[in-house]
Amino acid sequence: MSLLIATIAAYLIGSVSFAVIVSAAMGLADPRSYGSKNPGATNVLRSGNKKAAILTLLGDAFKGWLAVWLVARFGPRFGLDDAAVALAAIAVFLGHLYPVFFKFKGGKGVATAAGVLLAIHPVLGLGTALTWLIIAFFFRYSSFAALVAAVFAPLFDIFMFGPNPIAWAVFAMGALLIWRHRANIAKLIAGTESRIGAKKDKDA
Ligand code: G3P
Repeated sequence: MSLLIATIAAYLIGSVSFAVIVSAAMGLADPRSYGSKNPGATNVLRSGNKKAAILTLLGDAFKGWLAVWLVARFGPRFGLDDAAVALAAIAVFLGHLYPVFFKFKGGKGVATAAGVLLAIHPVLGLGTALTWLIIAFFFRYSSFAALVAAVFAPLFDIFMFGPNPIAWAVFAMGALLIWRHRANIAKLIAGTESRIGAKKDKDA
């Protein structure tokens, strides 16, 4: 029963879309109506409002962190172990991708995954974030940086902790994240993906 409650709670936390909420609160256009139409920090940045993009990034990362941290911190009191932490990681991530509060149309999961990884272990989160930053710095594509980070995160986890339920969750998150970026992958191949900092009026 505790496992079910923890998993559902994580999913509900993940379903809170900060891109939509922050944009509405700041009087900006709905990010689902412009640019890539993705409710995520990268697309909110295309509105030209950096503050909104940063708040979206922090909010979406925070919810990923919170769901996993809560289960890791308090789960053992209710008999929950690493498998429950792994389920919470997947559930909060799925909540972001398929939010119950937003007709199941959510984002691609990059910021939320970063929060999840930080909660699993700060070194894992920071190492993956650093991977994203390095790729983003050299290539200027948010999506490409996310794809590379999604491949490296499970490898970092396995290297740090060995095979365990949480590593499988990180692997599944990476696979889902890549799946959610399939339109970006097509654009990257076609050379039409927008670079970081491009405004929505210049973006398809
Ligand atoms: O965080 C999502 C990012 O990797 C791609 O976003 O809006 O360019 O599809 P977007």
